[in-house]
Amino acid sequence: MKKITFKVNSVPTEVMVDEKAVLIDVLRKGLHLTGAKQSCDRKGQCGACTVIVNKKAVKSCIVKMKDLEGADVITVEGLGTPENPHLIQQAFVLEGAIQCGFCTPGMIMAAKALLDENNNPTVEDIKKAFRRNLCRCTGYNMIIKAVLLAGRFIRAEVTPEALHVKATAPAIGQSHVRPSFFLKACGAAKFTDDFFVEGCLEAAAVRSPHMNAKLISIDASAAEKMPGVVGVITAKDVKGNNNVGMVFKDEPIFCTDILPVLGSPVAAVIARTREEARAAAAAVKVEYEVLPALKTAAEALAEGAPRVQPDFPNFIYPSVQIKGDALKALAASEHVVEARFTTPIVHQSPLEPETALAYLDGDGDDAQLLVYGRSIWIHAHAMLLQEALAWPNVRYIEPYVGGQFGIKCDITSEGIAAAAALHFKQPVRYVPTLEESLVMTSKRHPYDMTIRLGADKDGNFTGYQMDFIVENGARTSVGPVILDRSIEMLSGCYRLPHVKVDGKLVYTNDTWGGAARGAGPPQANFALEGAIQLMAAKLGMDSYDLRMKNMLNPGETTSTGEVVDEWAARACFEKIKPYYDEILKATKEAKSKGICRGLGIAGCSFGIGDGNDTAHIAVELDEDGGVTVFGGVADPGEGNDAMMSQIAAHCLEMPLNKIRLVMRDTENTPDGGVAASSRLTYMAGGALVHAIGLLKEAMKETGAKKRSDLEKAGKPVRYMGERILPHKGIDKTTGQGQAWDSRLHGVQLAEVEVNKETGEIKVLKMTNVFDPGTVINPLAVIGQVEGGLDQGAGYALREQFVLGKTKDWISYKFPTFGTSFPIETMLIESPRARGPLGATGVGESTMVATHPAIANAVFDAIGVYIKDLPMTPDKVLAALGKK
Ligand code: FES
Repeated sequence: MKKITFKVNSVPTEVMVDEKAVLIDVLRKGLHLTGAKQSCDRKGQCGACTVIVNKKAVKSCIVKMKDLEGADVITVEGLGTPENPHLIQQAFVLEGAIQCGFCTPGMIMAAKALLDENNNPTVEDIKKAFRRNLCRCTGYNMIIKAVLLAGRFIRAEVTPEALHVKATAPAIGQSHVRPSFFLKACGAAKFTDDFFVEGCLEAAAVRSPHMNAKLISIDASAAEKMPGVVGVITAKDVKGNNNVGMVFKDEPIFCTDILPVLGSPVAAVIARTREEARAAAAAVKVEYEVLPALKTAAEALAEGAPRVQPDFPNFIYPSVQIKGDALKALAASEHVVEARFTTPIVHQSPLEPETALAYLDGDGDDAQLLVYGRSIWIHAHAMLLQEALAWPNVRYIEPYVGGQFGIKCDITSEGIAAAAALHFKQPVRYVPTLEESLVMTSKRHPYDMTIRLGADKDGNFTGYQMDFIVENGARTSVGPVILDRSIEMLSGCYRLPHVKVDGKLVYTNDTWGGAARGAGPPQANFALEGAIQLMAAKLGMDSYDLRMKNMLNPGETTSTGEVVDEWAARACFEKIKPYYDEILKATKEAKSKGICRGLGIAGCSFGIGDGNDTAHIAVELDEDGGVTVFGGVADPGEGNDAMMSQIAAHCLEMPLNKIRLVMRDTENTPDGGVAASSRLTYMAGGALVHAIGLLKEAMKETGAKKRSDLEKAGKPVRYMGERILPHKGIDKTTGQGQAWDSRLHGVQLAEVEVNKETGEIKVLKMTNVFDPGTVINPLAVIGQVEGGLDQGAGYALREQFVLGKTKDWISYKFPTFGTSFPIETMLIESPRARGPLGATGVGESTMVATHPAIANAVFDAIGVYIKDLPMTPDKVLAALGKK
């Protein structure tokens, strides 16, 4: 051990450390400065732990403490506080450069180091300085804008005060500062690994290293004797059904027999420290019988193939849609495009690991089991844990969470932490490594789609046929729901009079598919928009004109046969037309000079409000005349806190500071439903409007202005609002019926340049129009658009998850500052008749048209359609005949 004396945020500090100690551990564990986050297993890949040492931005996970004698360290906590934020923190808040906030402290420290050296950086300077900082939520543009704005603040060209929305401004339609933003910008927002719980033990899991295996035996005797080890837990120690599967019970907390996918958990070691737990987990001896793995749907569907899940056939779920007679329509069509489109397995890539914390509050059988984790549906997941552990009193708390994008429709680490906390009767935290987080979670399903699109001689679409196979991997998760969603939004923005779809969901011994931003429609829309582009080429028609010719109108039907009464797509396309014309002209000019450039367009129609969807929200009048809103409403970064508080302030005609939120905790909140399907504004927002209506009625009736007035009048102080959608969804045997209560529409233009020598595709710019109905908080909506576009571009060009090979943020290539591109977004607000205050929702839709727009642009540039995502340089070169 060695004594190190240094300064942290100007405070002289002395610590005893060993040879290997790194700065992040001293900051987080020793000094409880948890602003610096950890995502990449100390590989210096993500930048979430960036701090400043001796005026330079460094990754604190790779800085050795032994090198810091006399050093001057500044962390995000040393910059400002939520009450007195630094100018850079103000700039991040004002530009909306924060969503989940997990990367934010690192970004802000990188900005501080850059701006201290150069207070007027260019965009290129910023991209260079931030090249090793990753963000999955915001899309990098808003962060670049925040750094530029911080420079203006520092140069005294403008003040934050001049840019803040006034408190007296209308509650909705304004970019009021989101309730969590200053906490996140100042490193004060607590994520699950940031809580210090006395006596908390650490867990490490033992997982199968085989693609498919049978568990023969577990010998933990050596591990149990290792330093710091408290014990080892396996399935036999779990009292309940030991399973957290949402649709089928095929997600055991600890496996007992079959291990159908690499990473299947068999045991966990509980120890005093994370390092001790991980060392001991590596010493647990497990005997496996290795079985052949079914890697593809073809193998899984072959006659005589073994079952992946013993209780179910490998062909687990069919997806059928029959509208009219597509085969006859196609046979009679003047023109038919036939093509096969494929999409890869993609990781949702939240930066925060799959962390969970659990402990018992109270004694005996009445004790409450508290679980902290990243769930986006705390009420449903608390119930799963109750059954899994046979412990009726479970309280789930969702602290701030580092992104999710659908991945937390399933719970993962919570089961292990909670089972261990119950078994050992001590607090247990489980922080998986990044590599482990990658194998233990669901992914975006890979789709293999064969389509035929027909058109008459004038370009009117006649029929559409799609046969598709989806490899679901080894666990069900919400796979059937993903297939349903694909056909429920199949026809996108367009009129398809005849449709025939046959889909198959198939188990394999691969990583399993689950919810991932958009969840089904991004894959299906790639095939449809690609087919339209190919049809335009076949007809010699402009692709914008072909789309407009076939644009659906109110009174017509989608592929599910539903007659629609609202259809904002046409207005979005009309709004983007001047931009389309201008870019088309510029692209033609560039081509005439030998530049390989292309323009692509694609639209999206995104369903909001599933059949029978339900949400509940409660409100209470407070003694000061303010109102507290209670609801299980997750906010993994998209801004549901702002949405709820701004809707409440508007409906109550109150200032925002009179609205309090109690969310993300099962205690004392009704169930707002899952933070998925872009449904929370429509559903939880709708339930909130209902609750406030009830409260206002009571206040009006009694003349009450505050809580005690209602009490004196003998009226309740709490009012429960509900939103229950009356439609029943589609008929599963025909794919026909009303799928959605509302829809969001958008259109995107991609400009790309292709390097014909290297095969690299550069996105030059994306231009978009979206109509989300009434906009509650414009900056939050733009944030969703820009973040979604970056994810869509990653899907188009570089992202692909390979189980066993994708192990970190280098081997999984999601967008970086280096790949970021300018984005221009315009919003149209057509209030939706059934939406709360006219709003729909926005979150997922923003990436649904991005990858087809980029693929269409690449087709325009090189003249060959790359139908297999991602469009990596080798595929481009192959398309050009150079490989
Ligand atoms: Fe950057 Fe979520 S805000 S990772």
